[in-house]
Amino acid sequence: MVKPSLKVNLAGISMENPLMNASGILGLTAFSLVRLAEAGCGAVVTKSVGLKPREGNPNPVVVEVAGGLLNSMGLPNPGVEAFKTELKKALKRVRKPVLASIFGFKPEEYGELARRLDRLPLAGFELNLSCPHVEGLRELGSNPKLIRETVRRVKAATSKPVFAKLTPNVSSFVEVAEAAWKGGADGLTAVNTLRGLAIDVEAGKPFLSGVYGGLSGPALKPVALRCVYEAFETVKIPIIGCGGIFSWRDAVEFLLAGASALQVGTAIAYRGLQVFREILEGLKGYLASKGFRSLRELVGQAHRR
Ligand code: DHB
Repeated sequence: MVKPSLKVNLAGISMENPLMNASGILGLTAFSLVRLAEAGCGAVVTKSVGLKPREGNPNPVVVEVAGGLLNSMGLPNPGVEAFKTELKKALKRVRKPVLASIFGFKPEEYGELARRLDRLPLAGFELNLSCPHVEGLRELGSNPKLIRETVRRVKAATSKPVFAKLTPNVSSFVEVAEAAWKGGADGLTAVNTLRGLAIDVEAGKPFLSGVYGGLSGPALKPVALRCVYEAFETVKIPIIGCGGIFSWRDAVEFLLAGASALQVGTAIAYRGLQVFREILEGLKGYLASKGFRSLRELVGQAHRR
């Protein structure tokens, strides 16, 4: 029997398999990026970096809820200049494509970040257009005009592939997906976390210091799948599926819905880094049992009517 290939070409980025870490879970240090690459990721994504250092929110910043986690880190990061030093170290050691996740509060800031990082041997950029609770970023990520303008600015600053990571917190996902596509995005990441809230009944107040948080994990999966499915019918650029992928079955669902690559985040917190190998083994078994020779044959198959 022919061994099925898990190779993916994602907007020109050649990956040995479709898995990546979701930005925010690990990925701020060179060490964590190396560990992710060694755990089996086909590519790795950094934690989001902005122009200036940010301390992030005080504790508590994460709470477990039914079906996953709610987090409100507040985009902590060392700022682009300090981050560059760490990223250079990572890029020397990681033998897989590395994407830098960037965030800003205005389209120009994203352009400036891409310009400052463009000389590094990065494989591409992921634009965090979707933090659900940091004011400024929340507005930008749900405004199609600003999304289009942000992608356009980044594309003008780099020739590397640019992926727009979109929020599910909008009434029309197709509208934000189209905006990113029209702005010139090479691909989409669907989706970031859902805006949520948890209340501490003993204290009688919101659990997280940031009040609202982003919901991730199994509870997010059906929403994320729906967004991937909708975007696949509309935009003609590759989609990275993200949201509650814990098992190879989840991975297959996202591929059938139209994702060409996949990001795993919360599952790392629950299962550890071995989750990547478990998903890859399961995917190979599934492809072989169904007689597929490559992963590509699976992408979007749920749309056949
Ligand atoms: C944070 C950022 C995100 O993009 C997200 O989905 C959840 C939390 C944060 O840093 O608070």
